[in-house]
Amino acid sequence: MSEKAQIKVNDNGPYRVKGNVEMVDADGNVFETRKTFSLCRCGQSSNKPFCDGTHRKVDFESEPRAE
Ligand code: FES
Repeated sequence: MSEKAQIKVNDNGPYRVKGNVEMVDADGNVFETRKTFSLCRCGQSSNKPFCDGTHRKVDFESEPRAE
């Protein structure tokens, strides 16, 4: 049985993805990922769709909460 996948919205940072997830591009090509990885939410990463830590340099601010 596979671990339930989780996507966490980090305050002022990326989406943290963990669990049994296959990530693909618009053409269906599979990205090589680790068991846990981060996706850029600020739009400034040089390694999109992955986070490269640039959100800290650009003072990205976003703290959404589920209602
Ligand atoms: S969220 Fe980290 S570089 Fe964009």
